[in-house]
Amino acid sequence: MAPRKLVAGNWKMHGVSADLAEIAAIADAAGQYPRVDVALCVPAILIERATRAVPGFAIGGQDVHHAEKGAHTGCTSAEMLLDAGARLTIVGHSERRDAQRESDSEVKAKAEAALSCGLDVILCVGETLEVREQGAAISTVLAQLDGSLPERSASDAPLAIAYEPVWAIGTGKVPTTAEIAEMHAAIRAKLVERYGDGGGAMRILYGGSVKASNAAEIFAVDDVDGALVGGASLKASDFMPIVEAADGA
Ligand code: 13P
Repeated sequence: MAPRKLVAGNWKMHGVSADLAEIAAIADAAGQYPRVDVALCVPAILIERATRAVPGFAIGGQDVHHAEKGAHTGCTSAEMLLDAGARLTIVGHSERRDAQRESDSEVKAKAEAALSCGLDVILCVGETLEVREQGAAISTVLAQLDGSLPERSASDAPLAIAYEPVWAIGTGKVPTTAEIAEMHAAIRAKLVERYGDGGGAMRILYGGSVKASNAAEIFAVDDVDGALVGGASLKASDFMPIVEAADGA
């Protein structure tokens, strides 16, 4: 049986108190789609206010430190995210792999820290345009997974993978459905190799310029179990049609 679809918004560095009303509008509208899991990953400092504003709705973080506590100025631990009310966190987003030079082993340690604290995890992988043009997209993504998948064989639901081609993020460019299908099948095979049946049940999300206009086509692809949405998750009017497309898939 295909897993329930998950449509998660990544608000990146957007969101202040004035935006809580938009979060409430999204949470309220999500109630109309009980067959879809909907979540918003907001800036760490907004998590607690967001969870108070929309009790019962899944709010998540966008990154987590791998250590439990200690001298890590400016960082947020898994326990802190959980304490603020988060249910999940993103790890290994390409913007962090790039700007913060996060390695696969760091991403793996972050995923393990979050899972052992009880947070669900969305672990991101994806190739650059240069790598795709060299014909090395699949081998690169599988190598990222080899380096960053947690050891702990999370049985299924707590770990999701987001395939986010770097060149598709915020650009309006999207891979063909055949390219998405090929990549998601390769990721599925890797998850099954690593986790057995549990890997067959893990969700594989697609991310990168998902919008109302392309969501249904993307959700119809085999092994696409949802989406990680950036820009189009900031407004309920842009985000909810994507959730609706997941509901109809
Ligand atoms: P966009 O949907 O804005 O392309 O961003 C995708 C993304 O990076 C989600 O994590």
